[in-house]
Amino acid sequence: MQVDLRESWWIRDIEIPTRLVLAPMAGVSVQAFRRQGRRYGAGLVCSEMVSCAGLEHRNERTLGYLRVARDEHPLAIQIFGSEPAVMAEAAQMVVAAGADIVDINFGCPVRKVTKTGAGATLLEDPDRACAIVGAVASAVDVPVSVKMRRGLENGSRACLAVGPLLVAAGAATLTLHPRSARQMYTGEADHALTAELVELVDVPVIASGDITSRGRAQAVLATTGAAAVMVGRGAQGNPWALREIVDGEGAEPSREEVAAELIVFIRETVRELGERRAGGFLKKFYGWYLGHGRFPRPFKQELVQLETTEEVVTRLFAAAPGAVEIVERLEAELPDPSDEILLDSMPISIYGGG
Ligand SMILES: Cc1cc2nc3c(=O)[nH]c(=O)nc-3n(C[C@H](O)[C@H](O)[C@H](O)COP(=O)(O)O)c2cc1C
Repeated sequence: MQVDLRESWWIRDIEIPTRLVLAPMAGVSVQAFRRQGRRYGAGLVCSEMVSCAGLEHRNERTLGYLRVARDEHPLAIQIFGSEPAVMAEAAQMVVAAGADIVDINFGCPVRKVTKTGAGATLLEDPDRACAIVGAVASAVDVPVSVKMRRGLENGSRACLAVGPLLVAAGAATLTLHPRSARQMYTGEADHALTAELVELVDVPVIASGDITSRGRAQAVLATTGAAAVMVGRGAQGNPWALREIVDGEGAEPSREEVAAELIVFIRETVRELGERRAGGFLKKFYGWYLGHGRFPRPFKQELVQLETTEEVVTRLFAAAPGAVEIVERLEAELPDPSDEILLDSMPISIYGGG
């Protein structure tokens, strides 16, 4: 069965224009990543997980995650935490910042998060998980979604027990990454479980895990009945994979296109995070963009060693002079950054990206 990935679908009253969702990824899903994802065909993009405790304490870096641009919508902002009242307050803040959907993280397997009773541990504590979803759903008017793993232990089917309860508590959509927390990113995502979840709930289900090609996306949609597929690692430094999945074309960019997208990404990220933070943050992206046989390996090594992002940009232009025109076109299409909604409570230094 051929599935049309360009078909729109709905999360309550929010229209999602394609059946491809860009995954939330900590340390990756900055504004530049999300906006680029939208341009390449993602119908919905998501922020990385934002700590509700950080929001409660008005932590400057945490508040910085709430910068939303005009061309990101529809956008989900993901929050994590374990206290229903604190999560409800955090949800109100992310809606004030411009989120169309509040996503709740019940999937993070990292010890730093699970030891606080947040993330994937909540799959073993359905009462608390439902209290969180209920509190968040009552606190905001926008739809609330939940992203979860299959459970904590290998072979766990906790998601099938918890999923319907979360929907009854107010979740308008469920995303399932059918690996256990223990598995982290090893083994394979078992989308047979996604199909079972789809049967159990009457809200859209998003399938996350190991979607790296159009063939795989089509197969998972057809065999699970999921409303959409989510792509994470496959989109790192590779927005062309998103276009290939949605439209079946344009998987292999020219060198000029690669250099141009990376240059725009660098400039946007520096604007968002400031030069000092962006410099370190961006290094992993050089390998992601320039790999896939697109540029010789020593070139990436050279970029990683440069002191400033401006030097990286200069070097990229030198390696692919045809990128100039593409960058000009891309930058002309970007909306004015002054359109961003900023919360009144944000400390002034965040406005400078610092
Ligand atoms: C670097 C990295 C960071 C991630 N951060 C988050 C996160 O903040 N919130 C979340 O729900 N999932 C997070 N995930 C999980 C992804 O959203 C996704 O479910 C998982 O990577 C499987 O999809 P994939 O095979 O397409 O990468 C992260 C994954 C990676 C690789």
